[in-house]
Amino acid sequence: MPSFQLSTLSLRTLLPQLGKSCASKHSLLRAYSSVPITTENTARPKVTINTIKKLYAANKPITMLTAQDYPTGLLADKGGIDMTLVGDSLAMVALGYDSTTEITVDEMLHHSRAVARGAKASFRVCDLPFGSYEVSPELAVQNALRFVKEGNAEAVKLEGGVELKETIKRITSVGIPVLGHVGLTPQRHNALGGFRVQGKTMDQALSVLEDALAVQEAGCFAVVLEAIPEPVATHITQQLSIPTIGIGSGNGCSGQVLVLNDMIGVFDRFTPRFCKKYLNLDQTITAAISEYCDEVRSRKFPSQEHCYPMKKDEEGKFLEYIKRQE
Ligand code: KIV
Repeated sequence: MPSFQLSTLSLRTLLPQLGKSCASKHSLLRAYSSVPITTENTARPKVTINTIKKLYAANKPITMLTAQDYPTGLLADKGGIDMTLVGDSLAMVALGYDSTTEITVDEMLHHSRAVARGAKASFRVCDLPFGSYEVSPELAVQNALRFVKEGNAEAVKLEGGVELKETIKRITSVGIPVLGHVGLTPQRHNALGGFRVQGKTMDQALSVLEDALAVQEAGCFAVVLEAIPEPVATHITQQLSIPTIGIGSGNGCSGQVLVLNDMIGVFDRFTPRFCKKYLNLDQTITAAISEYCDEVRSRKFPSQEHCYPMKKDEEGKFLEYIKRQE
């Protein structure tokens, strides 16, 4: 089956290319209405927003993971992730900033494009960074459009609740799916006094619920619940009719998200309590690098298998030539 992303092509563009062949038109129409479509980099069917809705309706947990570049996008896809998030956490875990508030729209776009080149099968969501959507709904729509057009994102995520209702409505009204994010909103860490668990008191728990209901009403297709106690997150999940994607919010959510570099152990400045380290890749990579240093220093690397041979007669001629020069 040819590999192409039908979602990026409109029927109006495709039909004339097929000429007058009715059979072809009909098979295209059949293909158009019957995802799965195989994708270029993996043999997986393309995940769309409808796949996410179906998983939720079937009560099947949704998997989400961050990716920050082409190889991690590709690996997330190969590993079977449903939704790839180009999260602004990449500011800290991949670019070394102290917080997510420093990263710019252009930097995020650069990473979003790279992830999109690798993650063809999963549904790609990109964070709108701090400062790109709070000022006005108009600015938010303009920036969201950039993430779809220039960053090849299929949805955007923004942090906040009740106060963002109008903004979410405006972005979804132009055809861009929005993923909400309530509870701990790291972009507001200055106002929160750090990266603190939210919803630990009755009042706070109700306020997070109010935020989740507000973003649902505004049109979000799902909402991230970050760092809230499990009973609160489970209750919110039961109150909503859209999927909740938990991070540090227990096992009662409709799905889970983690930051890739945390879970594979390549970011060692700190590991949040909620993160399970599936690998300690930092140790593996450091050991490989120091072995490489040793082998270069001892001239063990490169060995013959890593060198390009010359044809024997050409090598002979070349050695003769050198001898004559001496
Ligand atoms: O930026 C990010 O990686 C996120 C996840 C923690 C949900 O927003």
